[in-house]
Amino acid sequence: MEVIIQADSEQASLLAARLVSRIIKEKEKPVIGLATGSTPLLLYRFLVKMHREEGLDFSRSITFNLDEYVGLAPEHPASFHHFMWKNLFSQVNIKPENVHIPDGLASDMEAYCRQYEEDIKAAGGLDIQILGLGTDGHIGFNEPSSSLSSDTRIKTLTDQTRKDNAIFFEAEENVPYHAITMGIGTILQARICLLMAFGKKKARAVSRAVEGPVTSMVPASALQLHPRAIMLLDKEAAFKLDQIDYYHWAYEHKPEWQKF
Ligand code: F6R
Repeated sequence: MEVIIQADSEQASLLAARLVSRIIKEKEKPVIGLATGSTPLLLYRFLVKMHREEGLDFSRSITFNLDEYVGLAPEHPASFHHFMWKNLFSQVNIKPENVHIPDGLASDMEAYCRQYEEDIKAAGGLDIQILGLGTDGHIGFNEPSSSLSSDTRIKTLTDQTRKDNAIFFEAEENVPYHAITMGIGTILQARICLLMAFGKKKARAVSRAVEGPVTSMVPASALQLHPRAIMLLDKEAAFKLDQIDYYHWAYEHKPEWQKF
């Protein structure tokens, strides 16, 4: 795991945008896994800026979102479809047919989830998966106790996650109980996993995921098994880590060719 600690979420998001834009420029058909929520908002703002000001070209990019609430129509203001089109897709030149977001209204969920996995494989696999981190340690909507080798399926949200996500809904009781999510196994197959976590309220989950044991009770700890997992944190999210000085030193002395 590479742990990168930046002064604030803005600097961390700029770094994330640089890495994603490099993949978009270098690959013939970049396949990008995306997340929603508060954490990647600044990253998307930077990518839109790079598109407008530097001509970053999304026309060859294929995207797969991690998850969607079951029962929400794409036009629902709290759906991840709505979020993605509002914050990224409508502002760049991505082709709508290259955008994949799980369908919360699919009639045969099992078949739909299998197909989602097939579609990722058919696209060539994920070059990078962007991840946020739940306060309970989830990635995607893989809640504690999720199988570490799971693939795309329906999960039941914990009370904590429903409370955390209530800000996107008019009332907590409107937050759905279920979501379709890529599995932890799906995420681990991405060539790079880039997890971002900002703010004090993520500090406990960060320390459990980075320095605790690998356990299904902290789904993000599965990233310790990934050969190229990057944990991009602001100071507040990193404050409970034991090895902060080591992470800073390692980042500052990275060989030139490894920098992004
Ligand atoms: C969203 C997702 C979730 C969030 C996590 C953190 O697509 O998969 O795992 O990344 O719940 O949410 P925020 O960023 O709102 O704190």
